[in-house]
Amino acid sequence: MADLILNIIFGSHLDITSTQILGCGISLAVALYLAQRWMNGDKESSPLVPYRFPIIGSTFEWNANPAKFIKDATEKYGSVFRIYINGRVQTIVGKDLVRNIVTNEDFNFIEAFHDIFDIDYMLRDGKKMGADLPNLITKNITPNLKAYTPRVVRKLYESMDNWLGGVQDSITMENPVIMIQDMIANASASVFVGEELCNNKEFIHTSKVVTTDIGNILLKIGLIGLMPRLSILYQRFLFTFMNPASKHIAVVCRVTGPEVERRMKEAREQGDSWNRPRDILQDMIDQLPSDLPAPFVTKTISNNFMSLIFASIHTTTQNSSLVLYALADYEEYVQELLDEQKAVLAEGEAEEPGVEFGFSSNAIKKMAKLDSFLREFDEELQGPDPENFNPWRFVNKNKQASKVGIDFLRFGMGKHACPGRFFAIQEIKTIVSIIMRKYRIVRPNPSVSRSIKDPPQGPLMFIKRE
Ligand code: HEM
Repeated sequence: MADLILNIIFGSHLDITSTQILGCGISLAVALYLAQRWMNGDKESSPLVPYRFPIIGSTFEWNANPAKFIKDATEKYGSVFRIYINGRVQTIVGKDLVRNIVTNEDFNFIEAFHDIFDIDYMLRDGKKMGADLPNLITKNITPNLKAYTPRVVRKLYESMDNWLGGVQDSITMENPVIMIQDMIANASASVFVGEELCNNKEFIHTSKVVTTDIGNILLKIGLIGLMPRLSILYQRFLFTFMNPASKHIAVVCRVTGPEVERRMKEAREQGDSWNRPRDILQDMIDQLPSDLPAPFVTKTISNNFMSLIFASIHTTTQNSSLVLYALADYEEYVQELLDEQKAVLAEGEAEEPGVEFGFSSNAIKKMAKLDSFLREFDEELQGPDPENFNPWRFVNKNKQASKVGIDFLRFGMGKHACPGRFFAIQEIKTIVSIIMRKYRIVRPNPSVSRSIKDPPQGPLMFIKRE
């Protein structure tokens, strides 16, 4: 029904003014919203946490402190209850039921995300032949991590040296996340578009800013977000007239277009003897029928890159930054991590010569203490002493940072668990390793925030090691 309404509003009726469109959309959405609220009623058995104001529900209390909200509600209502937040009745389940929920075939975080953000509409031009990203990543990135590692490590070093290379003694960075973002964007691009195109400044800029640009447009939704259906209508309106992805898609088209054309021509002419480039760009070309015209292939691929960049760059940047701040806050553990690194890299150099400073994929995998530190750093886990920061908690426990479980839902779980997590963890481990081996990381203004919901901010000081 919602689609029908959207077709009516945005399809053939664009001869009416945008105010009329919006006015009509608002009335319809409010009606839909009220109908849904009525249907959500008290049919289900789990208790609904009471709230004072309709539409707002418990949104503000929840946003102020979700952990406290859940703790208080669990004490009152047990491990399953419903809350009315952000325009929806949502069911909260405790640890005992999480596995049943997340392994259910119908549970899909990304689909749920579509309910609040209509990314498909934003990327509608390339939708018809959109890539199966999870499959693309599982088949082409994860099994090739070993081959991709040297270029990733090289790019990470190159980018780090651009920021820190000239430092004599120490430097204080007001916003170190920008450096991390640059490192991730450059390293990921070498895998996504290959070792030549990854030097293209426009592509790197787009990789860095597209998520924030989209986020900024979503901020315009403001309180309309309390009414999900209206919010989706509003997004479609926004994306029709000022699509935040359009200029970035144009950049990717411009950057990759000539290369796509060249590769398609060479593949056609040289057949089996063609030296197939190894990167995701080529994997995306191979997924499409070879008789499609090159401009169409470029357009489709550029849309696919938007989704790939959206899923990977911001998430990895945020999580690497969290670890960096945790290293500053728990400096007492750094020497042990450095000792581990030294031992593992010495073996690595012998195993895979030619890899920068011994940072081979195997060596990175072997850094078990660092791995455990990564899994521990967010302090939201559930163990016998969840309140205590114990960075070696998972050493020798067969619980690597890429291993999902009910005690570690950072990458989701079940059928749709993040397919990029192996790549992400390897990038994060490498970034923090190469920074901490060269610099002491100190937080000039200590703070306790290390949660992903409330990411740490503020300056970090990098002091050159002897
Ligand atoms: C630390 C970094 C990352 C975090 C925290 C993260 C987190 C997540 C989460 C929570 C999901 C939803 C899982 C679910 O529905 O159960 C997801 C899905 C996804 N992620 Fe990641 N991710 C990260 C990095 C990456 C990277 C580097 C890539 C690509 C190379 C990627 C690609 C994807 C894709 C394609 C999906 C959709 C999976 C599906 O629908 O089946 N992610 N990610």
